[in-house]
Amino acid sequence: MTEQTEVRRRAFRGCIVYCRHDPGEGNDPEALEVHEDGVLVVADGRVEAEGPAAQLLPTLGPETEISDQRGRLIIPGMVDCHIHFAQTDIIASYGEQLLTWLERYTFPVEGRFGDAELASETAEFFLDELLRNGTTSALVLGTVHAVSAEAVLDAAHRRGMRLSAGKVLMDRNAPDYLRDTAETGYRDSRALIERWHGVDRLAYAITPRFAPTSSDEQLRRVGELARAYPDTYVHTHVAENPAEVAWVSELFPWSRSYLDVYDRFGMLRERSVYAHCIHLDDGDRRRMAETGAVMGFCPTSNLFLGSGLFDYAAARDAGVGVGLATDVGGGTSFSMLRTAAEAYKVAQLQGTSLSAARLLYLVTLAGAEALSVADRIGGFRPGREADLVVLDPAATPLLARRSAAAGDITERLFALLTLGDDRCIAETWVAGRCLHRRGADSGAGG
Ligand code: GUN
Ligand code: ZN
Repeated sequence: MTEQTEVRRRAFRGCIVYCRHDPGEGNDPEALEVHEDGVLVVADGRVEAEGPAAQLLPTLGPETEISDQRGRLIIPGMVDCHIHFAQTDIIASYGEQLLTWLERYTFPVEGRFGDAELASETAEFFLDELLRNGTTSALVLGTVHAVSAEAVLDAAHRRGMRLSAGKVLMDRNAPDYLRDTAETGYRDSRALIERWHGVDRLAYAITPRFAPTSSDEQLRRVGELARAYPDTYVHTHVAENPAEVAWVSELFPWSRSYLDVYDRFGMLRERSVYAHCIHLDDGDRRRMAETGAVMGFCPTSNLFLGSGLFDYAAARDAGVGVGLATDVGGGTSFSMLRTAAEAYKVAQLQGTSLSAARLLYLVTLAGAEALSVADRIGGFRPGREADLVVLDPAATPLLARRSAAAGDITERLFALLTLGDDRCIAETWVAGRCLHRRGADSGAGG
């Protein structure tokens, strides 16, 4: 991690941009807060103030260290609502759709995560990669092994990150070496909740893989845990791929829909996060809105695995929360900037054009809202935790040229969100500490 001396108060000067709320279809101009020459004051790991430099600079005492980022954008740390840390090594695996991709690539690699050393080493790389990409918060799946969840939670704790994770539950339709039982899965999850949930910035996610790999009894126990620990997350996949949807209706013939399986087991509630949500109907969307369950929109994964097009407009029209997610290793990038660019294209194919403000919302505040932590992260109102990213709009020759040609901030933001990737992440700060500085990391540590 980047070396630094302890400074109690630090002021970042640059173009400060964040969303106050969802800009919506109409691109509400009030939603975007912009200070072209702005200052963000951070003290004791939290935002103390933000506003125009001319107004704030004279109020700062000599003890305040000024970080001069003029020419750059300062945005809230980005939030990834669904990602598998144990799939880091199988990102970009060729040629399969979901069910065969799981069998051929995913299960074999996940089988190795009973090894605590491998789990820790991968967790360290994974979190450094998130930070290199400007992602400061994530909802993470481990593997069936409790030590995998321990490894990523422990590594996030040492970095001071706001992160949630859980051990995967699966007691059927998976290789022997990857199966728990309804009883051991329940016991391990409960022990992990007691050990990690609410420790500093960490939270636990009860994580059945998806309906096909859990028995009725296991899903019943998930519902029980979800009720007993209402402020944990419930985190799983739903309605991603047509063959998967057909399999679920065979396995649960009584169900009205795939989502209905989870509903019957008491798994729809606030802090329930469902990745993909492609092949849903209006009744499913209505049920998610009623219960406060939210969707994870995973555009690079949905395209890469050929799963389908997520209908963002239908989800928002139904009043359902939607967070953006990479879904690595089905997804093909750790970068939320690249993920936003793919989200834009997926929406375009369905007649919706996501504005620059909406894309910024999707990579920051939307994720914070989806994870019910918008009072802590996702924006820069005073009192928020100081997770922030310094974006370089001149990171590549093309970006520099495009940014120079851009008129206002929304045009510059749109170019960054369409062309940008890890090369644009100049610095990543977590709770007021710099954990990544471009060029300082030479691949390790961050
Ligand atoms: N459905 C069940 N497991 C997985 C997984 O690991 N990745 C994706 N994309 N979908 C899943
Ligand atoms: Zn996934």
